[in-house]
Amino acid sequence: MMQARSDRMRRQFKTIVFVPTMGFLHEGHLSLVREGKKHGDDLVVSIFVNPAQFAPGEDLESYPRDLDRDLELLREEGVDAVFNPDAKEIYGKEFQTYVELKKLPNHLCGISRPIFFKGVATVVAKLFNIVKPHVTVFGQKDYQQLVIIRQMVRDLGFDIEVVGAPTVREPDGLAMSSRNAYLAPEQRTSALSLYKSLQKAQELLENGIQDATIIIDAATELIQSLPETKIDYIAICDTETLVDIKTIDKPVLMALAVKVGKARLIDNMILNPQLD
Ligand code: PAJ
Repeated sequence: MMQARSDRMRRQFKTIVFVPTMGFLHEGHLSLVREGKKHGDDLVVSIFVNPAQFAPGEDLESYPRDLDRDLELLREEGVDAVFNPDAKEIYGKEFQTYVELKKLPNHLCGISRPIFFKGVATVVAKLFNIVKPHVTVFGQKDYQQLVIIRQMVRDLGFDIEVVGAPTVREPDGLAMSSRNAYLAPEQRTSALSLYKSLQKAQELLENGIQDATIIIDAATELIQSLPETKIDYIAICDTETLVDIKTIDKPVLMALAVKVGKARLIDNMILNPQLD
């Protein structure tokens, strides 16, 4: 049905823009929708909690959901179509074809979540084939996901423009995430340490510290000083290959994942050295 609709839109020379999500929408998702509007005239949003990107023991069953609220928010944004398939429609019986990247998943989140990006790339490829967009919008909040989708689009020849959109934050700086719903009030303060450590890193860099280890150590200390935090990784790496960088002499990606209570949170920032 969605495929037939997409064909119809294309026959009418509409430019289809696609924003994939797992629902429980917040301002971050809605910013992608608003960005999407600038790039075309038929805006499609998918809501699908993709089982293939959750490992056993992760939060697939408890992942927050509120479809009615999501639909209302998207209606208010003037979205043209919402695609909300069930798992059977996407994976059917005997599903056996996956999209796997060789290098980019061997960094950052891919290390502690080894099946995650295979699940993401596979579902996004399938959604692309159903929605048939000309343009798609992804958030920089999930930076590794964005570079992986760009790579997949290049590698597999999808005729789709990938637009990256900036991270939307709460007024205090916490990156918006559906998983913030897991945070108890006192954990909220601990969660803010992700952003604080990124700001601290930029500040150290501006004071001339280009040694990535020193910056990572400072971030580690800041985060560990707060209750209920468990660092998964803190990395400073190349913005395209995601390979670790030791000395910061060009813009780099600083990315981190921290468990706060049971919520696994991620954040990142491009750090810019003040070079003269
Ligand atoms: P989800 O976590 O719902 O995110 C959907 C999109 O919203 C992603 O592109 C993500 O980067 C973006 N996003 C989330 N929080 C944001 C924020 N605070 N600011 C800006 N953008 C933000 O990412 C997924 O779903 C899934 O992996 C998916 C791509 C849908 C595949 O299943």
